[in-house]
Amino acid sequence: MKILVTGGTGYIGSHTVVELQAKGYEVIIVDNLSNSSIDVLDNIAKISGKKPLFEKFDLTDPEKTATFFKLHNDISAVIHFAAFKAVGESVEAPLMYYRNNLLSLVNILQGMIDNTIRDIVFSSSCTVYGQPDVLPAREDTPVQKAASPYGNTKQICEEIITDTSISANIRGILLRYFNPIGAHETAFIGELPLGVPNCLMPYITQTAIGKRPFLRVWGDDYDTPDGTAIRDYIHVVDLAKAHVIAVERLTGEKGKKNIETFNLGTGNGFSVMEVIKSFESTSGVKLNYEIKERRPGDIVKVWADTDFANKELGWKAEKNLDEMTRSAWKWEQALAKKEIAK
Ligand code: NAD
Ligand code: WQD
Repeated sequence: MKILVTGGTGYIGSHTVVELQAKGYEVIIVDNLSNSSIDVLDNIAKISGKKPLFEKFDLTDPEKTATFFKLHNDISAVIHFAAFKAVGESVEAPLMYYRNNLLSLVNILQGMIDNTIRDIVFSSSCTVYGQPDVLPAREDTPVQKAASPYGNTKQICEEIITDTSISANIRGILLRYFNPIGAHETAFIGELPLGVPNCLMPYITQTAIGKRPFLRVWGDDYDTPDGTAIRDYIHVVDLAKAHVIAVERLTGEKGKKNIETFNLGTGNGFSVMEVIKSFESTSGVKLNYEIKERRPGDIVKVWADTDFANKELGWKAEKNLDEMTRSAWKWEQALAKKEIAK
């Protein structure tokens, strides 16, 4: 079976490609390399022994997307990762986010309908829950007004897929990721944040390697046991594996509804200080950090109810926090070696 992976040279996409290849799927990636590098294809091949097919173009281009689908109408399912994802940037440039994230999805769905491709797996986010009143967040926890244009694109995309499944022969699985971190155990692929990272894990590893002077811990006066905010961190390889299961569910007619939504998290919340402690113990590096004011827009705590995903998908995150921080550090060190070699 041939699977289209949009955004397949990106962070989560590349890990998913490796897992698909391990299960014998043929993969074709579409990516415009706006936030990833062509080298990722060789690095995927170092792990799997097989370089995926690749086409470079912008999925917001309706003609190019239509031509692509016509040429590749033997695709069995689509996994759609391609999107912009920086929350702060989306506040500065909302139209760029609405244009990229919404138009690419519309063009993909049109290509699928025109070529009778039925199944799509979509990258959604726990950001749709905002700060839930009740924890853990279940899939039927009410979606809250988005706190950023980025979050809003995820909500609208979920609605676009749902509406399309009513009028056309489209079936979708919407995967709401919590906080993906870590890297492949080989350290051949991982996260490549452009510029100064916003997210916690790459900021920690870049501080430890000496690229940043210190980590700023955003707030230690929250209503949590140690005062720092709590998230459900999930290893990117566990996340990747769930996508293969989602494809198998769709193509194997195992779904119960045309549109199904699943949380992808571990079900455990960890505070910023707990992540720092795990990092220090797995890396042996003492991290330089300072406590700062709360970051505007941050929620206090969120973690997933994973019962539905565990039961229905038969999937469970297996890797613990130490495995996440250890692999993130191995990846940062591998990147540093590459930079020295350049
Ligand atoms: P990423 O930036 O590493 O990967 C996205 C890829 O899509 C990049 O390679 C980029 O070049 C490509 N792309 C973007 N716009 C494109 C376009 N118009 N045409 C073709 N290619 C395009 O991001 P990621 O962390 O791997 O995230 C993948 C998906 O998961 C995104 O939809 C993101 O919103 C979602 N998500 C990510 C997180 C996270 O914390 N990383 C959490 C929840 C949801
Ligand atoms: C985690 C915790 C910070 C950096 C974001 C998006 C969300 C989703 C996942 C895509 C928070 C603290 C962070 C730092 C810190 N992405 N922190 N110092 O904000 O939970 O979620 O990524 O869909 O939409 O908003 O992730 O990694 O930025 O923060 O103290 O330098 O680490 O305050 O408590 P977040 P994050």
